[in-house]
Amino acid sequence: MGIVLKNISYQYKDQWQKEKQYAIRDISFSLEKGEYAALIGHSGSGKSTLLQHLNGLLRPVSGEYLFDGENVFGGKFPLQKLRQKVALCFQYPEYQLFEETVLKDISFGPKNLGFDQHTCEEKARKAMELVGIAPDLEDASPFALSGGQKRRVALAGILAMEPEYLILDEPVAGLDGKGKDNLFSLLRYLNEEKKITILLVSHDMDDVAANARRVLVMNHGELIMDDTTEKVFSREKELKTIGLAIPQALQFYNSLKSGGYFKNVSETWNKKKTVETAQAERNGKTAQAERNGKTPLTVEELAIRILEENRCFEK
Ligand SMILES: Nc1ncnc2c1ncn2[C@@H]1O[C@H](COP(=O)(O)OP(=O)(O)OP(=O)(O)O)[C@@H](O)[C@H]1O
Ligand SMILES: [Mg+2]
Repeated sequence: MGIVLKNISYQYKDQWQKEKQYAIRDISFSLEKGEYAALIGHSGSGKSTLLQHLNGLLRPVSGEYLFDGENVFGGKFPLQKLRQKVALCFQYPEYQLFEETVLKDISFGPKNLGFDQHTCEEKARKAMELVGIAPDLEDASPFALSGGQKRRVALAGILAMEPEYLILDEPVAGLDGKGKDNLFSLLRYLNEEKKITILLVSHDMDDVAANARRVLVMNHGELIMDDTTEKVFSREKELKTIGLAIPQALQFYNSLKSGGYFKNVSETWNKKKTVETAQAERNGKTAQAERNGKTPLTVEELAIRILEENRCFEK
């Protein structure tokens, strides 16, 4: 059943007087357990406003929110229960670290949920392991850590509550390449192994293409597309009109295609076997060059790698 939004609209206070001004308007969609989805849209399109409804931080002016079939804003639904199950990770979550030690900070969530100290610390240590924070950092001050470590501590604080849904607002903003890769592999692990549902906001279409299986697109407060990653990114012209680009991987593949290299994606996939055989042969012959890491990839090899690493290609 998961998360079901029906015709949700929201106006900020200063928009009340203006009848037609909504931060988000008439949004309906559902998010099933196990999904990995991305929410994209131009700046000010309403993404953060929408996310804040999912854990009950904002209450819609109209519409309905059902969580596992129960009406969240019906008056009887305990919001604390919702916030444990649907965790919202804000942009720059490290700004919310406040405790003296890493362990205390991560334990804060479970403590709030009423667990005893021993259980809280157990959950905190498990979460530290998940995000890759070494045990010897548990007594360190969170403020003495690097930016990437702080982000992981903040995420551990959320994971320690063992949420079913992880909603992230631009989770890799401000991280360097390695920090970004680490965070995305963690999210993939949480989704594939721990079965945590993920919805993330991103302005980086390549990150979206490499990770999300479904994409929701917002424009001026409205949800205008909701489909698989490959279907959404096949609508290049429409995306362009609302200020969004397609992933560079797809742009690159398309230019290979228009340069006459491939007819379509399935033809490229079909070349996989031939390419792999050729690669194996070449590796045998040019062992020295391989060791030096200097053998360039052929266009076919490159194209196949692009297909493998992204989810934005229609098969
Ligand atoms: N606290 C607020 N008070 C009044 N209006 C707000 C507030 N927060 C957002 N808005 C307005 O609501 C609309 C949606 O904003 P929102 O922050 O949800 O957009 P966004 O898609 O997350 O943008 P960005 O990509 O820049 O983060 C915008 O018109 C914005 O000006
Ligand atoms: Mg935002």
